[in-house]
Amino acid sequence: MIKLNSSEYAKRRQALMASMSPNSIAIVPSAPVTIRNRDVEHAFRQDSDFYYLSGFHEEHSVLVLIPGREQAEYVLFCQEKIKEQEIWTGIRVGPEAAPEKLGADDAFPISDIDEILPGLIEGKDKIYASLGVSPEFDRQLMQWVNHIKSQVRNGASAPHEFSALEHLLHEQRLIKSDEEIRVMQAAANISAEAHTRAMQVVKPGMMEYQLEAELLNIFMAAGSRWPAYSSIVGSGDNACILHYTSNNDVINDGELVLIDAGCELDYYASDITRTFPANGRFSEPQRALYQLVLDAQYAAIDAVKPGNHWNQPHDAAVRVLTEGLVGLGLLKGEVSELIESQSYRQFYMHKTGHWLGMDVHDVGEYRVDGEWRELEPGMVLTIEPGLYVAPDDETVDAQWRGIGIRIEDDVVVTKDGHHVLTSAVVKEIADIEALTA
Ligand code: GLY
Ligand code: MN
Ligand code: MN
Repeated sequence: MIKLNSSEYAKRRQALMASMSPNSIAIVPSAPVTIRNRDVEHAFRQDSDFYYLSGFHEEHSVLVLIPGREQAEYVLFCQEKIKEQEIWTGIRVGPEAAPEKLGADDAFPISDIDEILPGLIEGKDKIYASLGVSPEFDRQLMQWVNHIKSQVRNGASAPHEFSALEHLLHEQRLIKSDEEIRVMQAAANISAEAHTRAMQVVKPGMMEYQLEAELLNIFMAAGSRWPAYSSIVGSGDNACILHYTSNNDVINDGELVLIDAGCELDYYASDITRTFPANGRFSEPQRALYQLVLDAQYAAIDAVKPGNHWNQPHDAAVRVLTEGLVGLGLLKGEVSELIESQSYRQFYMHKTGHWLGMDVHDVGEYRVDGEWRELEPGMVLTIEPGLYVAPDDETVDAQWRGIGIRIEDDVVVTKDGHHVLTSAVVKEIADIEALTA
């Protein structure tokens, strides 16, 4: 199975510590356990920031980094090994083995954190943490700090500054290493195979979730534990619902099917959308709109290169789409004015992409000092223009109504331009018709 080389985690902790202020501490909790219904929990998926720094998948853990601390810079709190509990919920690493297995300099039972962590925070000037994410963690953090404040008359010194950890950490996560790109390429390959499979097996009369089952089967058979987000399988009008996930409808003859699905592989997401005819042939209106979205997608991908700014691919897609919509008679007027007034939003109401990484909508700022940020090698983004003509849109000819199309690929910015990670799944009309026929 493809996994990130474990030496990456220590490098990341070193890089983060090098960017922290002198005499500071960073505190990162694991993801919370959440209830699905009554006593059934949602599948546990580690918090991306926590995993990025630790490679550790267990719940009820807290990672602490204290750059320059002699005894231990990396301290981990985790669940103790308790036989009676491990019989029910699984084997744990435990604090004794954490230094050897996870590279922690020191590790303690999570049940001791209230006694130990205030002592690590005491005397530090600044705490880095992601506040406002978990009310439970925010409350705990304040308790630890207040505990120190209660000791000031005994000479304790409480931090006087809180700093957003994500400000440092998410900039670091935004630029992917070669090793991360290797795993993302592997994730993309699996997802491409799944989309190819869906095109091969689709036929009118199937349920949308039956196509979803094909995707999941390929993901898991190929080594991915689960999808990176809820798969969208929308046929006909459902393709016009941007976040459609009920996937509970019949796929009818003559309809397009829009699939937006990607697997997660060792905590890295892939994110692909393809749109294809259920019966193997695009109708004329479907074909015209599909080709337009594809042309817009190529134009947007072309704009992915170092030095271009974040929004240039979107601007390129909007121009092609608006010109095409005028050509087909869905919009009327002067192209530049229609762009200026954002009239295209009647049919194209989302942006052309987002950062991609451990989270499908990955971290990292899109603007810096008020300006769209420049693309740099190692950034990974999606390019996903679409057109969605509402089924009840009476401003357009009836032939266009209820057509929803999106085409989405994952793109790495390279030194010389870009590399498309998801090119293994076809998107040209002739190739799609050959696969679905
Ligand atoms: N699958 C979510 C997105 O495309 O943004
Ligand atoms: Mn998507
Ligand atoms: Mn996407």
